[in-house]
Amino acid sequence: MALTFDGLMGDADGALAQALAAGQDYLRRTPQGELLPLVGEIVDTIPAAAWPDKRWFQKSYGRIATDAPEELLAGHGMFYLTEQRQLFLDCTGGHYQMTWGYEHPELTALLLDGIERGIVWDNHSNIPSAPVKRLAGKLIEVMNPGADADALVADGDRLNTVLTGCATGTVACAAAMKIQLLHYAREKSGEGTPVFITLDGNYHGTDLFAQRLRGMWPEYFTGVEFVMVQPNDPDELSAVFAQYGERVAAFWAEPIMMNREAIMVDPEYLHLARRLCDETGALMTLDEIQTGFWFPEVVYAKRLGLTPDFIVLGKGMTAGLHPLSALIYRGKYDLLEQYDAISTNGNAALAAYVALGCIGLIEREAERIEAVGAYYHAAMAALPVEFPELLVEARGAAHMSALKFRDRGDALGFHKAAVARGLWLRAHAYHEGHSTILTKFALPMDEAMGDFTVGAIGELLEARAW
Ligand SMILES: Cc1ncc(COP(=O)(O)O)c(C=O)c1O
Repeated sequence: MALTFDGLMGDADGALAQALAAGQDYLRRTPQGELLPLVGEIVDTIPAAAWPDKRWFQKSYGRIATDAPEELLAGHGMFYLTEQRQLFLDCTGGHYQMTWGYEHPELTALLLDGIERGIVWDNHSNIPSAPVKRLAGKLIEVMNPGADADALVADGDRLNTVLTGCATGTVACAAAMKIQLLHYAREKSGEGTPVFITLDGNYHGTDLFAQRLRGMWPEYFTGVEFVMVQPNDPDELSAVFAQYGERVAAFWAEPIMMNREAIMVDPEYLHLARRLCDETGALMTLDEIQTGFWFPEVVYAKRLGLTPDFIVLGKGMTAGLHPLSALIYRGKYDLLEQYDAISTNGNAALAAYVALGCIGLIEREAERIEAVGAYYHAAMAALPVEFPELLVEARGAAHMSALKFRDRGDALGFHKAAVARGLWLRAHAYHEGHSTILTKFALPMDEAMGDFTVGAIGELLEARAW
């Protein structure tokens, strides 16, 4: 018996298929200018259907048995419809990974083209196919534009090595951490216990070591020390490096702390960290899981004019097709054996092909991305001037703009009101002292969409109805 949507989805009467088709058709054919004024409304021309609920999910993923699930029905560009047919503007690029929004026409065409040409979905990492090898080369080219390949490949001091065999950012981060431990054991073990320095509010993945970096599981780790510093405090950073000296194994930072209220880490602070790492023989990592593929330079380190020892990339690299991450590093730190750090499904050729398309689009549209990002951030930055009693400042940069509230209750209240209004954005207000709402618009955003969003946020702030 042939596999069908109806059979697989338990859609005997075809209602789900109909609702999905109607929702997708509606989003595809309605121009942005007509959709924007309808954001937040129920589109009742789309038929209702009885969608599966989340009763089998874990509690932290919203386990619930309900007749009216409200998850995503269909998405196109930066808009999506819920199963209850409410129209949303996705101000977060999926969840920070849909670089080009839902169903970008060129990337969708590229995906179908790749399948048609016979590019495989995945395969063993011992036999990586052309798109994966090409992607590795492209990432190195981005970091070393115009370099002579023969000279570059032989120069272990340069960023000339890519680990592409990992699916998620966590695995790429873990690979860097393991290399740093190995390097310490080889070069600095006489110094004593290695120390990892991170920024308070760091998030470098979800496995044990990464979570230890942010303070979890302290009772299970010995033989390694963890020190957190406040971002943008150069005196504290210098003092910590002076205290631990050669024992510092590694320094880690996100250039924009998308996991802590979109704090911008000062470029000078990161350059200071670079110098301190050089002085103490520590390895510097820039975690670009968030910033990578969201700026015209593709990799934010280039915007900073900074060369870390490791750059972690993930999330937006494949524009959301398949979680694929990469670790770019100096060849001299190529210390891991093959199975020391991989995801066994991390050789996704089709995803690598789409990743090349994602980078190609960024390069082609770099000027427009720069201009729209600057326009949107400037408009967001005007809101704290207009509503000083509610807002402290705008945070982040460009498409990744955020608003810091004075009061945590207001940030949470605003977030609820914004979601009810049809603006899907994020709040960091669940920890003491955190009171920020964040956006990370997909790159097709234009000025009109920026104006609409900032206007709608302004109206919500004005109404203060939470
Ligand atoms: C800065 C940063 N590092 C690492 C990770 C982990 O990536 P993944 O969820 O793909 O494992 C994330 C995920 O959001 C992140 O934002």
